[in-house]
Amino acid sequence: MALERTLSIIKPDATKRNLTGKINAVFEGAGLRIVAQKRIHLTEKQAGAFYAVHKERPFYGSLVSSMIAEPVVVQVLQGEGAVAKNREVMGATNPADAAEGTVRKLFAESIEANSVHGSDSLENAKNEISFFFAETEILP
Ligand code: TYD
Repeated sequence: MALERTLSIIKPDATKRNLTGKINAVFEGAGLRIVAQKRIHLTEKQAGAFYAVHKERPFYGSLVSSMIAEPVVVQVLQGEGAVAKNREVMGATNPADAAEGTVRKLFAESIEANSVHGSDSLENAKNEISFFFAETEILP
């Protein structure tokens, strides 16, 4: 399997509950290395652009509002097959469907307040990483 990078966001519901370290421990325990990380407060424009793919969905406005309610932690995770591995570690979008031991099963409050974002393909990972990070900020 190839060494990959993926974009992860620890969402406002989790930063608000001071869960950054606990979530990072799950990532690191799964063999993912945090090679870049910063805490930022997204603007409405940034959150809207990041989730533009969902623009026509009924939950879009609420999703954007939830993403700007508190600071988020954006991070680059690196590892063998990191994109798929992170999706596995995150668990299903709806925490009610998430497997035991996954971040969303452990910490998520609802389908919207589901604690983490993770890129869903290598191509999206590349685009999402460059949305938040310069190459010089990523230190393997
Ligand atoms: P999606 O890309 O389908 O899920 P994932 O985050 O697992 O890749 O949806 C993006 C986010 O949109 C999701 O994390 C939470 C929110 N969302 C809702 O609020 N309601 C919904 O019904 C869905 C499908 C998503």
